[in-house]
Amino acid sequence: MIPCSYIYCLILLTVALVSSCVHNKPQSNDQFLPFKNLNYSITIKPILDKYCIECHGIEGTEAGLDLRTLKSILKGGESGPSIIKNSPDESLLLELIEDQIMPPEGEPLRKKQIKRIRSWISSGTSA
Ligand code: HEC
Repeated sequence: MIPCSYIYCLILLTVALVSSCVHNKPQSNDQFLPFKNLNYSITIKPILDKYCIECHGIEGTEAGLDLRTLKSILKGGESGPSIIKNSPDESLLLELIEDQIMPPEGEPLRKKQIKRIRSWISSGTSA
C-alpha cells in the first residue's frame, strides 16, 4: 500500500510543476509590448467606457474632451491632444490617470489597466 504522504507529495509536485509552466512564459524582448493584442477597440475602449465617458462624452464633455472615439481622444480637449503616439510621458491622459487625478471621483483604475494604456500609447495607439 502507498502511504498517504506519498500521494500528498505527488499532488504538491504536480501543482508546483503546472504552476511553474504557467508562470514561466517566454519573456518578450520588447519591453513596451508585454500585452498581446493591444489595440483601441478591444483593450482600451472598454476601460475608458467604464471609467471616463460619463463625464467625457455622455453627460458632458468636461474640458472639451470626448473620450468615446479614438479620433476624439487624439483630438483632445482644451489642453490639446490627450495622447501623443509613442510618447506616453507626454500624454496628458496617461499623466492624469497615473497621478490619480482622473477619474476625479469613484473607483480608480487598476495598475494593470494603467499599464495597458501606457503600452498601447508606446506601441503607437493602434485602432
Ligand atoms: C466625474 C467626472 C469625470 C470623470 C469620471 C473623468 N473626468 Fe476627466 N475631467 C473631468 C473634469 C471636471 C475635467 C476638467 C478639470 C479641470 O479643468 O481642472 C477633466 C479633465 C480631463 C482631462 C484634461 C483635458 C484637457 O484637454 O484639458 C483629461 C485628459 C481627462 N480628464 C481624462 C480623463 C480620463 C482618462 C478619465 C477616465 C479614467 C476621466 N478623465 C474621467 C471630469 C471627469
